[in-house]
Amino acid sequence: MEQYVIKGGNPLVGEVEIGGAKNAALAILAASIMADETITIDNLPNVRDINVLLGAIEGIGAIVERTDAHTVKINGSTISGMSVDYEYIKKIRASYYLLGALLGKYKKAEVALPGGCDIGSRPIDLHLKGFRALGARVDIQHGLITAEADHLKGTHIYLDKVSVGATINIMMAAAMAEGKTIIENAAKEPHVVDVANFLNSMGAGIRGAGTDVIRIVGVEKLHKTEYSIIPDQIEAGTFMFAAAATRGDVTVKNVIPKHLEATTAKLLEVGCEVEEFDDAVRVVCAKPMHHTQVTTLPYPGFPTDMQPQMAVILGIADGTSTVTESIFENRFKYVDELTRMGANIKVESNIAIITGVEKYTGARVSAPDLRAGAALVIAGLAAEGITIVDDIYYIERGYENFEEKLASLGAQIEKVSSEKEIQKFTLKVS
Ligand code: EPZ
Repeated sequence: MEQYVIKGGNPLVGEVEIGGAKNAALAILAASIMADETITIDNLPNVRDINVLLGAIEGIGAIVERTDAHTVKINGSTISGMSVDYEYIKKIRASYYLLGALLGKYKKAEVALPGGCDIGSRPIDLHLKGFRALGARVDIQHGLITAEADHLKGTHIYLDKVSVGATINIMMAAAMAEGKTIIENAAKEPHVVDVANFLNSMGAGIRGAGTDVIRIVGVEKLHKTEYSIIPDQIEAGTFMFAAAATRGDVTVKNVIPKHLEATTAKLLEVGCEVEEFDDAVRVVCAKPMHHTQVTTLPYPGFPTDMQPQMAVILGIADGTSTVTESIFENRFKYVDELTRMGANIKVESNIAIITGVEKYTGARVSAPDLRAGAALVIAGLAAEGITIVDDIYYIERGYENFEEKLASLGAQIEKVSSEKEIQKFTLKVS
């Protein structure tokens, strides 16, 4: 088991390059199997979840050729099975995208009910409602979802709740259905738009992605394409908040500043300076930060995937702040860990009431999930003394070379795998 060991207190200073968006890439990789020609995908983040999904895609018989760490070629013409192994599904929730992709292309798919980060109850009823509306017979038995149709027929679907996953999954299946599908109350996240752009580059007829009504005219075949994934707004936001927490000065490069507006707005509210360039943002945070209120909402609202990082910032800002989590009910699992580092946080239902403390103090903590894990690293970078973050497996699901990127900004952080290495690090930095 590996850990991050961190000696806090260094302001982060310098430039950092952001990779491709994990959550866009997961859907795009699944959608790649829908053509019988070779698809080339670039700006792929080299993180654990991506590698697991590529394993699942190979597992159903597609040809997967990783030409370098950030580029892959996928050819779906050799797919021999429509059943995705549970081994993959239990590791990554996003393997459910193979349901929409296989159903769209072959009118048949079999995928186990998904696992993923434990951040609350994560039903997939809306995905299944969409498949049924398109004419598929959907059955769940022995932990397996089977979706099958003689023909998929375009239809009008209203999503009762804004869901990224359901919007993308239905969009994929509808891309190869007969006729026109309209998805209402669709998610507007940048990665929904990226998946639509990708499918359109394969010949799909999708209009309106990025608004709450998506219109899809089904096509019979999708063809080859070369596509580059958008930058990861959550990785970018995480580095922006790490700069703020450490009172640093960091330029986050290879981003789309428009996608970061909610994150930027909160940094401005707490008193940091944010300068926007064409494809970069610079965060400077020299003065003490102030309290504020945040509520997570679907895009363009403040992202739930930035909620733990925001709480870490507010934990060392002046006054009392509130963080309301409106998307996932179990996303405050890091609060007890942060309290061990000196934070003063009380959770009442879906609201965290945070009274700022002067500083965090280093402690041994465990990452409860991907984003909360990254948030604890930020707390460690801002803390006095040594912090050890256990269970960094979660962090590696979504952040590529996290410790190397932070170290290049001046952080004292190392990935270790034994108590001996922790002691060695402690001796070195003290
Ligand atoms: C995606 O999850 C992301 N995962 C999550 O990223 C992210 O937190 C989330 O969107 C919200 O932005 C991937 O893209 C792989 P949803 P997803 O469907 O699609 C309810 C990370 O850290 N809902 O938009 O599963 C659901 O319970 C992660 O990278 C239903 O009720 O989220 C939630 O309250 C973790 N029925 C809300 O909708 C459904 O059928 C939004 O969930 C589907 C969802």
